[in-house]
Amino acid sequence: MTDRGQRDGAGRGRLAVIILGIETSCDDTSAAVVRDHAVLSNVVSSQDEIHAAYGGVVPELAARRHLESIQSIVSRAIAGSGVDYTDIDAVAVTRGPGLVGSLLVGLATAEGLAIRLGVPVIGVSHLEGHVLSPLIESEVETPFLCLLVSGGHTALYLVKQVGEYAEIASTRDDSAGEAFDKASKMLGLGYPGGRAIDTLARGGRIDAFPFPRGRVRGDDMALSFSGLKTALWDFLRSVGETPAIPDVCASFQEAIVDVLMDRCLRAMENLDVPRLAIAGGVSANSRLRARAAEMLAERGGTLVLPSLAYCTDNAAMIATTAALRSARNLPHQPPVAIARLPLAPRLASAA
Ligand code: KG4
Ligand code: ZN
Repeated sequence: MTDRGQRDGAGRGRLAVIILGIETSCDDTSAAVVRDHAVLSNVVSSQDEIHAAYGGVVPELAARRHLESIQSIVSRAIAGSGVDYTDIDAVAVTRGPGLVGSLLVGLATAEGLAIRLGVPVIGVSHLEGHVLSPLIESEVETPFLCLLVSGGHTALYLVKQVGEYAEIASTRDDSAGEAFDKASKMLGLGYPGGRAIDTLARGGRIDAFPFPRGRVRGDDMALSFSGLKTALWDFLRSVGETPAIPDVCASFQEAIVDVLMDRCLRAMENLDVPRLAIAGGVSANSRLRARAAEMLAERGGTLVLPSLAYCTDNAAMIATTAALRSARNLPHQPPVAIARLPLAPRLASAA
């Protein structure tokens, strides 16, 4: 049995030593165990196969599958961690943003376990989990910028320190991942489509077709991908013969990567922050990684690209966030489901 640290009833200011994390905000069921913020296990079960037939996540099916798999995912996380249930000091669980039905499965599981083990339940913001995921494997000096690009979210945050964030930019409509997935559907490449487009784009020309770089009038930092999606749809309907798919993929992907890099570069310069991390499923994109590396090499600075296991939705980032907040004596949030839960207010001075 490990040292459980000091507890108080409000869950404030405690030193949680071993934390079980649970993440079910969208379509990945995940559980992880961390000691301080060293990851002992991180198990993720993807639901891609279920949702592929529909071309996107079906909330009711997602919640049902979470319910079917959560117990075995938690058992596997505990077994893989080398600790016993009785060693757990707290259960951290995603409270939002996310699909409410999916969130409730994780929250109910966390509450049940916590009651059985006699430990507190800590509610964690999914977005805070993502922006702190670069700290799982690296010592990243603060402040740093974190570009979060996934199927559910696309935003750029300033991480001043653990618990203090500002939003620098966010999408007004679709996320970057959604743009990739919708494009993939239009091109008949399946769901989720980012990886397929990335792979095909390697054999295509980035300047074959002039797809628009999304802009929002009156807001230079805001992102928008819905116009790009429509432009691809119009383009595919208007071209007489089928265009070379690798060229379409490369040009479409370049339009997304261009705007993401533009916002990152401007934020780094305007805020004078030389450290950039990229998290979320789209951070697997090879062109985005290459362009970010080029940009940092040119202007100087540090690029942090967490392992993909910690970029896509995972419970290690949720447990780590609880551990990092505990270490700073920050108050914990209650374990209640909240569909829309912004991380931080927008910082006007970044534009
Ligand atoms: O973070 P994630 O696993 O799940 C959430 O949306 O929360 O991100 C999934 C998204 C999908 O839209 C998928 O198409 C995209 O990440 N993605 C990629 C690549 N791999 C996954 N997008 C572009 N290039 C990739 N290589
Ligand atoms: Zn996510």
